[in-house]
Amino acid sequence: MTTLPEAVALRRTFAIISHPDAGKTTLTEKLLLFGGAIQLAGAVRARGEQRRSRSDWMAIERERGISVSASVMTFEHRGLTFNLLDTPGHEDFSEDTYRTLTAVDSAVMVLDAAKGIETQTRKLFEVCRLRDMPIVTFVNKVDREGRDPFDLMNEIEETLALEVTPMTWPVGMGRDLKGVCDLTRDQVVLFDPGRGDHLVDVDEIALTDPRLDAVVGAEAAARLRDEVELIRGACPPFSAEAFLHGTMTPVFFGSALKTFGVRELLDGIAQRAPQPREQPATPRVVKPDEDKVTGFVFKVQANMDPNHRDRVAFLRLCSGRFKRGMKLKHVRTGKPLAVYNPMLFLARDRELADEAFPGDIIGIPNHGALRIGDTLTEGETLRFTGIPSFAPEILRRVRLDDPMKAKQLRRALEDLAEEGVSQVFKPVDGSTWIVGVVGQLQFEVLTARIEAEYDLRAGFEAAPFETARWVHCDDRAALDRMAAANRTSMAEDRDGAMVFLARNAWALNRAKDDFPMVRFSATREH
Ligand code: G4P
Repeated sequence: MTTLPEAVALRRTFAIISHPDAGKTTLTEKLLLFGGAIQLAGAVRARGEQRRSRSDWMAIERERGISVSASVMTFEHRGLTFNLLDTPGHEDFSEDTYRTLTAVDSAVMVLDAAKGIETQTRKLFEVCRLRDMPIVTFVNKVDREGRDPFDLMNEIEETLALEVTPMTWPVGMGRDLKGVCDLTRDQVVLFDPGRGDHLVDVDEIALTDPRLDAVVGAEAAARLRDEVELIRGACPPFSAEAFLHGTMTPVFFGSALKTFGVRELLDGIAQRAPQPREQPATPRVVKPDEDKVTGFVFKVQANMDPNHRDRVAFLRLCSGRFKRGMKLKHVRTGKPLAVYNPMLFLARDRELADEAFPGDIIGIPNHGALRIGDTLTEGETLRFTGIPSFAPEILRRVRLDDPMKAKQLRRALEDLAEEGVSQVFKPVDGSTWIVGVVGQLQFEVLTARIEAEYDLRAGFEAAPFETARWVHCDDRAALDRMAAANRTSMAEDRDGAMVFLARNAWALNRAKDDFPMVRFSATREH
């Protein structure tokens, strides 16, 4: 039987971050292909294609099965277990993405060789930087004309303030692509365009082999030798320490579409990406090889099966050897929770998990007891930190077409808020609920889901509020005075926490000036 530290050492839990269209879906599919999860490849592809139009994308979202099985993909390669967590591609989901990134130990940043760093790459990178996350870079689409690789390296270095160190290097690009040179072994892996996009054994030739000129052409061989020399002179060698601190990124070049350079990337992740790391918590940090099981919920997916109002909480295991049937303590409520039917996300099917280890993600079906940010332990009172809610940027008042269904609507709004993509506020003056989201598209998704999953017709109309702040004050009387003075702006969130709904920036500043003892915060830690 594997020991706990051995099992931890064999795991890599990561996410892919990219700007839309850089090739995240294609790369995911190819990584899974190496992991032997071949049937899933089609499902991921279909999803990528259908996402292109908004209505298709919503239909696909409603097919909970697909989007859920693709939220966490577990596969094996060279004896290691990889957990690949999907980050929603649309920028409206930044909050959801943020929380997903709290559950991984490293990230792969995919760039389009013709475009380099794009807006969304940058935003997601900033999130990773907040957590000092190790990042592996994959420059994709080298089978097409792209920018000069040195140019791309400079761009990464300058715009992201990261040290870059190439692990592979393209030999030509576009129509002239001849291969990639694996700089860790000084071997040129040859590209054969005729071989298409399936897995094949590749031919290699040593960089120093005199036959290289004949194989890739004298000009390409000479240029490669010059470039390798330049890289060795100009780029720092790979430093495990700098990479693990998130200050250096190893760079791989390839074509996800042609399944080329992907094997080197996956081997790079296997060799260098960190095993499950320790996790910040109060009152103490949790190490993965501790005997007792701990974990936190970073995502909740409601109504996977609309006939049973079930939901699945995604738990990132942080320590211990988890066994099916285990009784864990739900720290927020103090109640015990027996996990009889945990799910692992191997390939397409949900499989019942008998055992799981730190770094693994298990799905726990429940009826609403588990929320984002919740901690489970074997008894210790611990709370994992750093999983915030963000103040919504758009607020709307809910309009219910049939007032008799107010109760059902409330239930629907609360259920959907539990997934963490929208928030519900109940104004204290008794007016109808205010729903807040980070991006406009969420309202369309909410309306469609309320109709499809709850058979209710509801709409969202303008609310006189621009933003929301959670308010706290050690002096309860001061807080009450503030609330009394701003009665029409006060509301409670789903957990009963007090929220100030601001009509505009001026009103917010005014309230802050009038009540300096009260803290107005734009995030709330779960
Ligand atoms: P995303 O998830 O990051 O949004 O990107 P996705 O994988 O869906 O890829 C976006 C487009 O880029 C797709 O083309 C895909 O085929 C193409 N692509 C991905 N990797 C490579 C690559 O290595 N080389 C080349 N040349 N193209 C690549 P599309 O025409 O938009 O869609 P499709 O009709 O091919 O599905």
